[in-house]
Amino acid sequence: MTISRYILEQQREIPGATGEFSDLLSTITLAAKVITREVRRAGLANILGFTGAENVQGEKVTKLDEFAHNVLLEILGRSGHVCALASEEEADLIPIPEGYPLGKYIVLLDPLDGSSNIDANVSVGTIFSIHRRITKEGRGTLEDVLQPGYKQVGAGYILYGSSTMMVYSTGHGVHGFTLDPTVGEFLLSHKNIRIPEKGKIYSINEGNSNRWAKGVQNYINYLKEEDKKTDRPYSSRYIGSLVADFHRNLLYGGIFLYPADSKNPKGKLRLLYEAAPMAYLIEQAGGLASTGYERILDIQPTELHQRVPLIIGSREDVLMAEKFIRE
Ligand code: AHG
Ligand code: MN
Ligand code: MN
Repeated sequence: MTISRYILEQQREIPGATGEFSDLLSTITLAAKVITREVRRAGLANILGFTGAENVQGEKVTKLDEFAHNVLLEILGRSGHVCALASEEEADLIPIPEGYPLGKYIVLLDPLDGSSNIDANVSVGTIFSIHRRITKEGRGTLEDVLQPGYKQVGAGYILYGSSTMMVYSTGHGVHGFTLDPTVGEFLLSHKNIRIPEKGKIYSINEGNSNRWAKGVQNYINYLKEEDKKTDRPYSSRYIGSLVADFHRNLLYGGIFLYPADSKNPKGKLRLLYEAAPMAYLIEQAGGLASTGYERILDIQPTELHQRVPLIIGSREDVLMAEKFIRE
């Protein structure tokens, strides 16, 4: 089953669907293939001599996150389904250029997540979040973009790992597709992913532990204690690419935390490009996402690059983390 067939079959179940949304999703898979190609040859860039600001054709050699950003904007901007875009890589709202058709959707992007890992050949990803516009016509505005996560109509990520995967949800479960490079298609490999109710893995940048609030410190210490009945100690796993850390925990169960700390009192991760789309996916998979005090999907954003503490993963684990943090 290819991803395009799957998208069409899901569309058939929605009466009155115009196919616009399906086409938007398919557009994202095209961008995923183009970015995959570039990620796969990233290590060759030096060998081939593309190190300067310009390559032999006189084109600028762009960094991978710039490249991913540009590919997504170009492909989505031309799709005719989008009236505004926002990206972690750009300070302001990105209007659709003059002359391109406008659509009814808003797409928010983290074009390349985990960029600090690229040079070491460690997994990176792309995150996307889709909203329906609120304004009636013309180019999308900030009002269209600053919507709480529960209003997303779709969200997902592409993981450029040992294989490329696209995992997404449109509100009917979470489904994963693996790119078969020999045929150039994403094939359904993980139907209706459910995160285990409780995991045995925790993922957090423990180098920041002295900066955490007491509650977070106590929770992580609790996970390290010996207790057969609750399967402790947990294992620590941290890649430093949210997409990769999230994907592992989604499949195996566990908890990921990027809490507020004394250096980042509002947390580090971005609400619109990282926390909200991942929260949408985790809830669709049966898990939870919280700031420690509040459901991520309920937060009304007030600015484009708003940061937020993120605690996300298996239901029982997130509930336990909240309990410690609130104490
Ligand atoms: P990005 O590469 O898009 O800026 O995101 C990096 C994020 C996220 O992927 C990861 O979970 C987190 O930053 C890692 O932060 P630390 O290096 O502070 O642990
Ligand atoms: Mn990121
Ligand atoms: Mn990024």
